[in-house]
Amino acid sequence: MARRTSRSQNKVLGIDIGGTGIKAAPVDINKGVLLQERFRIETPQPPTPRAMLEVIGQLIEHWNWKGKIGCGFPGVLKRGEVHTAANLSKQWIGINLADQIKKISSCEAVVINDADSAGLAEMKFGAGKEYNKHGGGVVIMVTLGTGIGTALFVDGHLVHNTELGHIEIDGKDAEKRAAASVRERKGLSWKKWGTRVNTYLQTMEKLLSPDLFIIGGGVSKKPDKFFKYIEVKANIVPAEMNNDAGIVGAALAIEL
Ligand code: BGC
Repeated sequence: MARRTSRSQNKVLGIDIGGTGIKAAPVDINKGVLLQERFRIETPQPPTPRAMLEVIGQLIEHWNWKGKIGCGFPGVLKRGEVHTAANLSKQWIGINLADQIKKISSCEAVVINDADSAGLAEMKFGAGKEYNKHGGGVVIMVTLGTGIGTALFVDGHLVHNTELGHIEIDGKDAEKRAAASVRERKGLSWKKWGTRVNTYLQTMEKLLSPDLFIIGGGVSKKPDKFFKYIEVKANIVPAEMNNDAGIVGAALAIEL
């Protein structure tokens, strides 16, 4: 009996909210793996809180979930409340997402920035494992997707809500130049876009002197296309957990 309880405590429903899709799956937070294949629903357009909360409710219902929930969201979150939502509806600002999830599910719920959640997963189970310790130094996870997300770790500790994808370079918001969505939307060559990513990472390096950059987002599956344009002193590696990092990391947030 006791064993059954402890096993179910390892299981957390991870929800990853993105600009194009909202995904969820049960996660074993001790092993860092999905227990079943993720279920995905398109992000409603316009991405208003009402429409998105409805989808979140459908995902929780799909899994018939009664346990703990961890959720990643593409914005700054403080004590469950949304402070920014650059690529979603501004109506999100001021909403307490953790409370809303609790309300629709009656489950215990925590929320975390989406890049922070992907970073947690990579540090614990993926490309950052060796650096996840006292003396591990400074690690920056950069997710290149609809926007640019960042997660900053110092000796394995996460500094929440760094919005370093929005630093200004030559007077322009970095994510408007170097997010993966910009390459697709503007039809940029890998070289042109890779050079923009290089400028971005060199700027980050000048400011923060990281020991490791972990590059996440869908493009991390194609490092051969653009890593050759990047020249930084820090080690640089693609994320290892691919699509799962956001969901696994969201679930891990329950432990923070
Ligand atoms: C948001 C971040 C988010 C990133 C990736 C940015 O536009 O400001 O909070 O982590 O996109 O989704």
